[in-house]
Amino acid sequence: MKDSKDNAPGERVLTNRQGHPICNNQSQRTVGSRGPATLENYQFLEKISHFDRERIPERVVHARGFVCYGEFEATGKIGDEPAATYTRAKIFSQAGKKTPLAIRFSTVIGGRDSSEVARDPRGFAVKFYTEDGNWDLVGNNLAVFFIRDAIKFPDVIHSLKPDPVTFRQEPNRIFDFMSQTPESMHMLTHLFSPRGIPASYRHMEGFGVNTYKMVNAKGQTVLVKYHFHPRCGIASLTADEAAKVQGQDLGSASKDLYEAIERGDYPQWDMYVQIMEDHEHPELDWDPLDDTKIWPEKDFPLRHVGVMTLNRNVEDHHNENEQIAMGTGVLVDGLDFSDDKMLVGRTFSYSDTQRYRVGSNYLQLPVNQPKGVKRVQTNLRGGQMSYGVDLAPGQNPHINFEPSIHNGLHEAPDMGPNNPPEIRGALTRSVIERRNDYVQARGRFNTMMDWEREDLIHNMGTLLSACERDVQERMLWHFFLVHDQYGQGVAEKLGMSADDVRHLEPLKGQVLTEEDQKRLENLG
Ligand code: HEM
Repeated sequence: MKDSKDNAPGERVLTNRQGHPICNNQSQRTVGSRGPATLENYQFLEKISHFDRERIPERVVHARGFVCYGEFEATGKIGDEPAATYTRAKIFSQAGKKTPLAIRFSTVIGGRDSSEVARDPRGFAVKFYTEDGNWDLVGNNLAVFFIRDAIKFPDVIHSLKPDPVTFRQEPNRIFDFMSQTPESMHMLTHLFSPRGIPASYRHMEGFGVNTYKMVNAKGQTVLVKYHFHPRCGIASLTADEAAKVQGQDLGSASKDLYEAIERGDYPQWDMYVQIMEDHEHPELDWDPLDDTKIWPEKDFPLRHVGVMTLNRNVEDHHNENEQIAMGTGVLVDGLDFSDDKMLVGRTFSYSDTQRYRVGSNYLQLPVNQPKGVKRVQTNLRGGQMSYGVDLAPGQNPHINFEPSIHNGLHEAPDMGPNNPPEIRGALTRSVIERRNDYVQARGRFNTMMDWEREDLIHNMGTLLSACERDVQERMLWHFFLVHDQYGQGVAEKLGMSADDVRHLEPLKGQVLTEEDQKRLENLG
């Protein structure tokens, strides 16, 4: 807490937003001390009507979150090689280069005041205020996601959000959707494992999840995934521990982070990237653009790029947390999109929702303005709450268009060559070919210790036992295809066995690998 001693009261006279001093903030204006209020009571009406509008719509997902600030210090390298080998983005270019940043951690499904120890992915969204302009890396604490095509996002979120009638989160709705979505098995296996409830925001990893690109000065590109590892280690809660925490405090993760920063115990994360040549990689049995898959570290090693330190809390939660706006479209020269079908869908969604949620001039707010560049210079004008004009020095204020010969803004020189890929193909609505939905969930299950498997099976069984029989059967069927022990374990929790799911056929359109087929033939 900042020092609140009132040592210069004269400096802190209360005014209204018109600059008028407020001499009495205790009583509204009335006729006599008990009398009716008067309508010209400007000071009172302003105060109450502003209060009535204090909230803006909460985020449709990730509503509960916590922002703080810090900096990123680059190593100048990507692993052992100079960063310039892969990217011309200045943020990574030199050893010791520091870039200020804001970060917002969040839960996904609950509302703005919901529990911070829910079994739910955690958002890990970083806004780097780089000298090339802002770069937002909007990630999560788990490396993969439930779905691989953005068109399914409203459905997965509706299934996880409260029932539209009872307004309760209903396991039957969640697993109804998941049971028809085999690509979710990998994410579910992470989410219901002992890592599914982070102990705090300081003790969790961060992942970009989607596949991006880096571009170097020659315009050559590579595919890239981003990772953050917490220096204070990973810590998680069991379901029972979480229940105890949220019985006392719904905001335990924000509290932990806020207090650590206030006492100078600044949390740090090492940032790494994984790199892959920019092509389809037919040698892999999964697609590099599929966000339900990780890139195995033995084949695509982690390469250190720098350290993130968080060292400052916000001054106002609303201005800096509710109004911060991050999105996957916010990239800088040297960092680019891939064709990952989630990433392109996300890129539309973020700025669309922010225009609605915060307002059309959300980028004029201090927390969203770029800080590393001298100024923004645009021909954007107007809109609600516009309070600045992005004029360049010497710019003719009459010229808000481009091109013009009368001192208007003009295009920047090319920042470097790009080697755009040549894309051919028939327009289609189809799923990527290399789905292999169970292989990495199986890999994850195989790496778990016995107690971790037990915890996963316990967590999954507990929620599934609240589901209807047809949903239980289909979920079990998937678990058996992932791993016998997984299927057996959850089946036991439900008082069922492999015999109860043998009658099920693959889902419509589902492609099974040879291994899946064999498992299906020898179920259980
Ligand atoms: C927030 C859409 C997938 C991470 C949001 C918001 C929307 C959204 C509308 C609210 C933003 C705001 O109001 O400012 C989508 C769509 C997705 C998708 C359409 C899939 C197509 C993902 C994935 C991740 C992710 C895969 C993780 C890598 C986040 C985070 C936030 C967020 C961290 C909170 C940002 C903040 O703290 O302000 N998403 N999302 N989303 N999303 Fe996504």
